[in-house]
Amino acid sequence: MLTSEFTKIYSSTLIPISTSGQITSHPLSSFPHLSSHSTITNPISSFNEGLLSSTPLGLDLTLIRDSVFDEDDLDWFSLFPEEIRPEDCMILSGSGASSTFHRDPFEWTGTSLLLQGEKIWRFIKSTPKIEQLLEMESVVSEAWGDLDVSAGYQSPHTLYKRVDSFLPATFTPTPSSGSDLRPDLNLDVECYEVLQKPGDIIIIPKDWIHQTYSINDTISCASQRCGIGDVKSVLGHMAERVGVELNIEEEFEYDDAEGILGRVFESFGIEY
Ligand SMILES: [Fe+2]
Repeated sequence: MLTSEFTKIYSSTLIPISTSGQITSHPLSSFPHLSSHSTITNPISSFNEGLLSSTPLGLDLTLIRDSVFDEDDLDWFSLFPEEIRPEDCMILSGSGASSTFHRDPFEWTGTSLLLQGEKIWRFIKSTPKIEQLLEMESVVSEAWGDLDVSAGYQSPHTLYKRVDSFLPATFTPTPSSGSDLRPDLNLDVECYEVLQKPGDIIIIPKDWIHQTYSINDTISCASQRCGIGDVKSVLGHMAERVGVELNIEEEFEYDDAEGILGRVFESFGIEY
């Protein structure tokens, strides 16, 4: 139902569609036709940040996602100034399209709710050695304009070089061997895989490198949370980016979220 609501509301909205990295603009309604040509060697996908913000459908999706977290676990991003508040991203992917192999910016907890299709997720726990092996590079987020407050980390490699006989069949995370997936990289590390189906929500812990693969046409909503377990790492990440020394342990009072954010953002030179 959410899928048909989404495709109906936004059918004539122009969205950026990537075909093997070449971006062109099309109405959302043309995506199923275009994506019918999507393959692993000619992947077709579309990333749409902020499309649903503050709309009734966007709020419904937020409620669904938040239902898996503790009611008292405030999302501190909701108190961030609008210009640096991460936005949901509606992702449309054709068959064979994979995401980048990456670790999210801001060091938040990521969530992904699948509305349509089937997606494979692969996760590897980040360590300095793994990051070096995967040649992870910092990617500055463009979302905040001149404010350089966060960066993600991206690998030029893929975990989906071989797919056919390597796809998991369940939503229960199953360990597999990185060296089976990428024998050429000597990726001697445990990798976790799941099969995500419509209605499944994936929670992505902050220090896990991950990559998705769409088995067929998928529509998903990717978002992020800064709950009580994330707030120190998120603010620490920002402090590092803006070059401010922040003694979070000393500063911290969990019951005064706005007070602490006010003081921290002021030290970053961000109006609050
Ligand atoms: Fe991600």
